[in-house]
Amino acid sequence: MPVVTVPDPALVVLVGPSGSGKSTWAAARYRQSEIVCSDRLRGVVGSGEQDLDASADAFALLDQIVAARVRRGLNTVVDTLGLDPERRRAQLELARREGLPAVAVLFGTDAAECRRRNRSRDRPVPAAALDRQLRRMADAASQVAAEGWLVVEHADEAAVEPSHTSGSQAAAARQRSRPARMSFVLQISRFAWGEDPAAWLAAIAAAAAEAGLDGIALMDHLIQIPQVGRAWEAIPEPWVTLGMLAGVTSGLSLGTLVSPVSFRPPGVLAKAVATLDVLSGGRAFCGLGAGWWEREHAGFGLPFPPASQRLDQLEAAIETLRALWRQGTRAYSSERVSLPETTCYPRPVSAVPIIVGGSGERRTLRIAATLGDGCNLPASLDTLDRKLAVVRAHCEQAGRDPADLLITVLDAPVLGADRDQVATTVERLRRRLSAAAYARLHHAGTAADHIGRYRLLAQRGVGTVFVSLPDLSGPDDVLRLAKVTAAFA
Ligand code: CTP
Ligand code: MG
Repeated sequence: MPVVTVPDPALVVLVGPSGSGKSTWAAARYRQSEIVCSDRLRGVVGSGEQDLDASADAFALLDQIVAARVRRGLNTVVDTLGLDPERRRAQLELARREGLPAVAVLFGTDAAECRRRNRSRDRPVPAAALDRQLRRMADAASQVAAEGWLVVEHADEAAVEPSHTSGSQAAAARQRSRPARMSFVLQISRFAWGEDPAAWLAAIAAAAAEAGLDGIALMDHLIQIPQVGRAWEAIPEPWVTLGMLAGVTSGLSLGTLVSPVSFRPPGVLAKAVATLDVLSGGRAFCGLGAGWWEREHAGFGLPFPPASQRLDQLEAAIETLRALWRQGTRAYSSERVSLPETTCYPRPVSAVPIIVGGSGERRTLRIAATLGDGCNLPASLDTLDRKLAVVRAHCEQAGRDPADLLITVLDAPVLGADRDQVATTVERLRRRLSAAAYARLHHAGTAADHIGRYRLLAQRGVGTVFVSLPDLSGPDDVLRLAKVTAAFA
């Protein structure tokens, strides 16, 4: 069965005669509050759902509800016959005006089947009325495409699912039939650790291993960043914390995403990472970036030079790390870095990957392409495609095979068991953002949605997803990822 993704959010207008299965279809895919149904509104403003005298009032209300929801960018399913071209035209214009995709979902259910279903209803539509609807449906099916809708045909026969990411349902199906590999690392940016920080961290790490994640990455900031939480919330020094995690885990890789080069002299960072690698039996990785938040530098007495100098520092830091980690103790000297000796014991026991974070196209991505083992990019597909093209071009310019560069993304998914739970979570977390904007930013969806999206990332060459859960409060939140990791194991 073909799998069709309906954009989400969208204005979804159902088109089909009575008994063609519109309400049944909508109820199986959408939440009650997303479905605006003329029958139901007849029951609200009239004596019952079949009170035809209340039609005008019911439709006036319906138009108002649809307009209000579409204006807010909320997903809206219009459950009416959908056979009136004038009403469809107005709905299409509304969606266009508010920048929502307009989808017409056609129920080409067999006429005999509609009649049969109609007859077995408590209060059937008069046979002549159903005949009229069936004739109008024949016209509607040819009209809608010309009107400019995204058309879903034979909705009752195809596997149709709403999703933010176009093609994600088909990609999820591909992942089931021909699985691609992807590694997942839990990125912890909020530390709701209550009275016992060490126990919380150990429990999160145990849950990460149980959920099939491959590692843990810690955010490296001196003050909690506004994108994540409030300034007085705990944000621990990551390399110390990773040392503790090394002691309570055995298989997880451990590192930062990402350490600003402006926090520590690169030699001291080299020492910390090498120590972590040794103590963890070769599980360390090192995320590195140029740093961006002036406030935390000022507050901790650290210089915060202009971006161009910080990017120079990033290049020098990578060279310094590599020089101190390599075999031997001989002097190191380049245009940027000069070390009279490189005596750094213990040395790392593995080839510690350096993952460059940041997406400045001209310099950061060039640094990643020329000096990094990996390059961390945003997970949103549109942005990712652009950044990937840039970083691969930088690789080619530097004479490096782009396939040698590990591509990672940072993703902050809202993951719910079903559509209801997804919506509730978005509403709880969204703060000042609109629900539609928050859901888009966090790709809010079910495990199947995320699996499809990650599959699309895998097809673009992404090897690792750093998963940052915006609602991480305890181990159970991490365990929800098991379904996703299992699909890529
Ligand atoms: N039905 C069915 N099999 C389907 C879809 C629907 O047996 N695949 C049945 C439903 O259980 C219901 C009847 O057909 O008893 C009509 O389905 P419904 O979804 O209510 O049809 P609508 O298109 O919504 O009809 P109306 O325009 O009258 O609301
Ligand atoms: Mg109905």
